[in-house]
Amino acid sequence: MTFLHLEGLSKRYDDFVAVNGLSLDVERGEFVSLLGPSGCGKTTTLQMIAGFVTPNAGRIALNGRDITQLAPEKRGMGVVFQSYALFAHMTVADNVGFGLEMRRVPRAQRVGRIREALALVRLEGLDKRYPRELSGGQRQRVAIARALVIQPDVLLLDEPMSNLDAKLREEMHIELRAIQRKLRITTILVTHDQVEAMTMSDRIAVMHAGRIVQVASPLDAYERPESPFASTFLGRTNAFEGTVLERKPNCCVVQVGSRQLHVRHEGREFGRDVHVYVRPEKLRLAHNGTGDTLPGRVRTRVFLGSHWMLEVDSALGVFRISQPNTGEPPPPEGESVHVEWSDDDLRILTMEA
Ligand SMILES: Nc1ncnc2c1ncn2[C@@H]1O[C@H](COP(=O)(O)OP(=O)(O)OP(=O)(O)O)[C@@H](O)[C@H]1O
Ligand SMILES: [Mg+2]
Repeated sequence: MTFLHLEGLSKRYDDFVAVNGLSLDVERGEFVSLLGPSGCGKTTTLQMIAGFVTPNAGRIALNGRDITQLAPEKRGMGVVFQSYALFAHMTVADNVGFGLEMRRVPRAQRVGRIREALALVRLEGLDKRYPRELSGGQRQRVAIARALVIQPDVLLLDEPMSNLDAKLREEMHIELRAIQRKLRITTILVTHDQVEAMTMSDRIAVMHAGRIVQVASPLDAYERPESPFASTFLGRTNAFEGTVLERKPNCCVVQVGSRQLHVRHEGREFGRDVHVYVRPEKLRLAHNGTGDTLPGRVRTRVFLGSHWMLEVDSALGVFRISQPNTGEPPPPEGESVHVEWSDDDLRILTMEA
């Protein structure tokens, strides 16, 4: 049975619709991310789940029980807010223990549970410090410990790693995912960081303008985006406008500029005007053209450590190409090359109005 069930949730602020008929089912123990650009309604959705914002329409059920009207503190959810909102005048231990005190957990038990929660986020020994005496990353961990200590049925995280530097953020992704797996807590993470969503989630719900436009595993969302928005928001892509010439059961012939491309797809209907997409890492550079290749010239070449990013001018437009770093540099700027791909890596989507 679905553990957390969101059905047709909407939230209006005056004339502005922040969340628009949003539905989502989350299984017990699952980690789901709400991923989308700033202002698309992620925080509003999370706050409705937490009970701090009342929906104008729709229903929320937890473990089969309707909780749409239930007070936040009765929902059994641990929340880490976008601005992690620690109490400045309280020590780390008191911050973490706050929820337990509210729930009238006896002092003796509180001490043990606070210790456990701090150990979980690796903050042992910092219990007597005040928030101002901690680094940003440590504060963020206190906020996570504070949410975990009440042993919530659902953990709600709103951009909990937004203030960390890139390396610490990467470490926290892995740590937090390990904690979540160990405790098997049903978790909803709000983020606009696609790498964060990909690393941590069982499924990603891609949001756009108050709606969920796709729910899929990270790999499926990346490999088979269902809308131009999802394909460009999740990772980088090359997009070319084209016109469908012929439709076969598993393949479309699409005229793109002067070329006819054969795009494999799974038999879904598309209009005549389409975009053909191909990810930068699915393209290769060749010195001589064979098969599906296109002559071009390297416009820019940037070294990124693990890989190179190139822009190649061609008759179809500019291709962004990502090449793994093999130790040998790829062709330099100005050099003539061929861009190569396999038809399996082309995707097709109807242009968005
Ligand atoms: N209390 C409010 N009153 C009026 N408008 C609001 C209110 N809260 C949010 N909004 C609007 O609703 C929209 C969605 O806001 P929300 O905070 O859910 O976005 P978000 O996806 O979390 O964005 P971000 O990534 O920037 O945090 C925004 O356009 C915002 O301005
Ligand atoms: Mg937000």
